[in-house]
Amino acid sequence: MAGRIPKQFIDELLTRSDIVDVIDSYVPLKKAGKDYKACCPFHEEKTPSFTVSVDKQFYHCFGCGAHGSAIGFLMDYEHMSFVEAVEDLAARAGLKVPKEAGVFTGPDKDSGTDLLEIMREAARFYRQQLREHPQAGRAVDYLKRRGITGEIAHEFGLGFAPDGWDNLLRALGKDDASREALARAGLVVKKDSGGYYDRFRDRVMFPIEDHRGRVVAFGGRVIDKGEPKYLNSPETPLFHKGRELYGLFHAREAIKRENRVLVVEGYMDVVALAQFGVDFAVATLGTATTRDHLERLFRHAPEVIFCFDGDRAGREAAWRALDNALPALREGWQASFLFLPEGEDPDTLVRKEGRDAFLARLKTAIPLPDYLFDNLMRQVDMNRLDGRARLVELARPLLSKMPQGILRQMMLDRLAELSRISVEKLPVPAAAAEPAGSFRAASSSRTRGPQEPASNVRRAIALLLQHPELMEKMSDENRLADLDLPGMPLFRALHQLLKNSAKLNTAAIIESFSDSEYKHHLSRLAVWDYPAQAENLEAEFHDILNRLSETSAKQRTERLLHKESAQGLDQAEKDELARLLSLKRDISRLSPSRH
Ligand code: CTP
Ligand code: MN
Repeated sequence: MAGRIPKQFIDELLTRSDIVDVIDSYVPLKKAGKDYKACCPFHEEKTPSFTVSVDKQFYHCFGCGAHGSAIGFLMDYEHMSFVEAVEDLAARAGLKVPKEAGVFTGPDKDSGTDLLEIMREAARFYRQQLREHPQAGRAVDYLKRRGITGEIAHEFGLGFAPDGWDNLLRALGKDDASREALARAGLVVKKDSGGYYDRFRDRVMFPIEDHRGRVVAFGGRVIDKGEPKYLNSPETPLFHKGRELYGLFHAREAIKRENRVLVVEGYMDVVALAQFGVDFAVATLGTATTRDHLERLFRHAPEVIFCFDGDRAGREAAWRALDNALPALREGWQASFLFLPEGEDPDTLVRKEGRDAFLARLKTAIPLPDYLFDNLMRQVDMNRLDGRARLVELARPLLSKMPQGILRQMMLDRLAELSRISVEKLPVPAAAAEPAGSFRAASSSRTRGPQEPASNVRRAIALLLQHPELMEKMSDENRLADLDLPGMPLFRALHQLLKNSAKLNTAAIIESFSDSEYKHHLSRLAVWDYPAQAENLEAEFHDILNRLSETSAKQRTERLLHKESAQGLDQAEKDELARLLSLKRDISRLSPSRH
């Protein structure tokens, strides 16, 4: 993936952008000495151990071990792909992401930029058809009958896919490459026999935007009756329906203003609610609310209200949402559930009773903790001792999913109270276990350890990585060419990189190694608290290189001595050995204990 964007561009990007600005736009940072600090957005904490270094252009949490460059931050925090993160940074820096020149001249399969362009054009095409196509009257009439005003249709970019197999294909599929790209974008379907046809035919089109307002998919509603009622874009490089939420970009200002977000089930619900001034609603796309959705929503507002039908399907969907919400419930975040009267959805209800009555309903939403316990208690007989034991058993797997914190503790207290057992006896661990294989958990204690014994090679790598300007002070690197010690291949790779591209910062260096086994090592060394004062760094570096070079000389001496006894040496080797041995005498006289 990374290969398609030239490495030099990534370097330039990481040199030009400021990680402090990037992170600060999501997590407000406070200056602390040379660095910036905040409470870590990746784990629960009360005192800030999340540190952003301006020099290194790198962030690191001393609490949980999370770390990375600006690109890494966007990937971890905003769940962007590598390419998305690069594009996001480039947009901030006013740079255009170039594509690697190569033999392949078709659209870039990986970067998705061409697909975005295609989606934009398709959205334009569908909107235009809604205004101009001879058959558009059917769609317009339908929207009118559903009470959609022209204004709101325009606001949401609604369009019309006319009936027929090749309307879009003829408009946008000029050559093979563009037809192929249309297929990758999910807009046309490739036939087994070759050839393509339009996926969306005779439907009202709802463009689905990503977090930056770029069209990444469509939902198409059949006009009046027909099956399937809604047809959505398939999963594509741009679109993962478990991640996107319909209307989020459109609603983001309102969500901020309201400090809450309403989650509904349908496109029409979002549009109708917005038309009636309930403009902070989003919809999942025919899927259950995922944890990914929730993490995303809670980043926009601390309160999420789920709105479900009152029927059985609605209650089941609510329970699934609850299940997914539990691991995301950090302190200060609230979720609640609103059940609508049977046979109604937000669209019909807001049209029937208007904005104020609908908003009043939101106040009656059931808080997640109450919903959880009410629901479980309905399944057991609370008057029986074994019924209350069953309650504990039912609650246990759910509460175990919650992150450690006050809310979890309070829910445990409540469970204890309801089941009349003392909270210490509850079979629920006080702390949520870290997910298995979490690299943060694995790396935290290590990056943190104050004094890991550090080899000279490790020190040399860390110094060069943290202060790439030391490269200018390096001379005669050939001294280390044969040195055989753990870590030397990485040192040499790092040295080579800096020799070829001067002026990389720490983050850029690490990103250069992003496809390599070294990346993990480097990330850890980047945040290693190097035990030396800034003013001594240069001397320290020289000292380390000298010691390494001594080791190198020693190794060489041993190799030559070995060869001498095994097969003899030629004249050049004899001279070299003599020089090395005299050098060794000098060194041992100066510093007898060094090795
Ligand atoms: N959905 C879907 N595929 C279907 C049916 C529904 O993807 N075949 C998704 C759509 O996102 C839809 C949502 O589920 O918006 C809710 O479906 P439903 O309640 O059936 O539709 P409404 O949104 O009420 O649509 P309408 O009012 O137009 O009938
Ligand atoms: Mn509906």
